[in-house]
Amino acid sequence: MSALEVDALIDDPGTRVVVCCGSGGVGKTTTAAAIAVRAAERGRDTVVLTIDPARRLAQALGLAELGNVPREVAVPGFAPKGSLSAMMLDMRRTFDDMVLAHAGPKRAEEVLANPFYRTISSSFSGTQEYMAMEKLGQLAADGTWDLIVVDTPPSRSALDFLDAPRRLSTALDGRMIKLLTGPARAGGWGLRKVVSAGFGLFAKAVSAIVGGQMLADASAFVQAFDGMFGGFRERAQRTYELLRSDGTAFLVVAAPEPDALREASFFVERLAEESVPLAGLVVNRTHPALAKLPAAKALGAADSLAARGDAPLAAAVLRLHADRVALAQRERRLVSRFTKAHPGVALAHVPAMAADVHDLAGLREIGDRLAGA
Ligand SMILES: Nc1ncnc2c1ncn2[C@@H]1O[C@H](COP(=O)(O)OP(=O)(O)OP(=O)(O)O)[C@@H](O)[C@H]1O
Ligand SMILES: [Mg+2]
Repeated sequence: MSALEVDALIDDPGTRVVVCCGSGGVGKTTTAAAIAVRAAERGRDTVVLTIDPARRLAQALGLAELGNVPREVAVPGFAPKGSLSAMMLDMRRTFDDMVLAHAGPKRAEEVLANPFYRTISSSFSGTQEYMAMEKLGQLAADGTWDLIVVDTPPSRSALDFLDAPRRLSTALDGRMIKLLTGPARAGGWGLRKVVSAGFGLFAKAVSAIVGGQMLADASAFVQAFDGMFGGFRERAQRTYELLRSDGTAFLVVAAPEPDALREASFFVERLAEESVPLAGLVVNRTHPALAKLPAAKALGAADSLAARGDAPLAAAVLRLHADRVALAQRERRLVSRFTKAHPGVALAHVPAMAADVHDLAGLREIGDRLAGA
């Protein structure tokens, strides 16, 4: 097992994209923000793309309003050697912008006004994953920043996120278009067949729309959308290639818990299958023992204090310490199970802070721990 060299990673001008992924609630957004702050303070011109950051974290980054473009972080006490811009992903706006970029103005207007589009653009499974990647593609193409740090949506399944570019690309290829444009000619039967066959991409959206208007809207949508598919697919493919390039580093974030580490394993394997460069695993919210005193000794001491009816507070602290030592051991065991299965994966440990991380000081502290400082 080796230590994850976070500073070497973010100082390397060859590192252009850092993607923080992992299962829900493990600290992806926090890690992404902390890395971005650290990189900016160490001299990189950095942009961080966050997804649903906690309100207070957003405020700490000066992201009070939802915009769909990066803004330079200008908050008191922050004067980085490089620079930091931050943005929150607005899924719907990103989708709209994509339509505007690929369709002529008249066609774009039709698409944007279509109820079917309005539903799929905000609810079909994978939209958020795909839009995050679309935005990454845009930020990379923009060329303003030399490091892009990307947070990812809380995909229940690791596959959702990695699959997004390709799934969209496949879904949008000719076969799907034919199936969907069928209904206009065949009186709607084709679409119903698609729906009942359970095509994942549209099924959810379609089932969310009830009423006879549905098929008409869907057909009109597909007709208006037709012709834009090529551009979409090309972009999805480019972003997918960017993810696999040498300048990209994935960080898998996990909690030191069985489920999270199992998902992390799955992620690591999947990234390897896709030849996506993995920088390492961040084990977030660990509980290292705070003192060297062994648990058995602490418990023995607590017992003898209790027997004498002495110093109840000290006895309680000793017992707490024993619990904490047991927890630390359990976490170490879980992590070593992971490293046995994936010996090549570098690790960083970030302890659980006393409170949620929602300000610059907290992000800096997380950054220090990530870097092993
Ligand atoms: N090391 C830590 N110590 C204390 N609190 C932490 C730590 N890491 C993250 N948190 C807190 O845990 C909560 C969840 O973190 P975060 O939002 O980064 O997770 P996430 O993986 O992005 O979640 P989601 O999957 O919902 O997007 C936040 O309130 C954050 O402040
Ligand atoms: Mg998050």
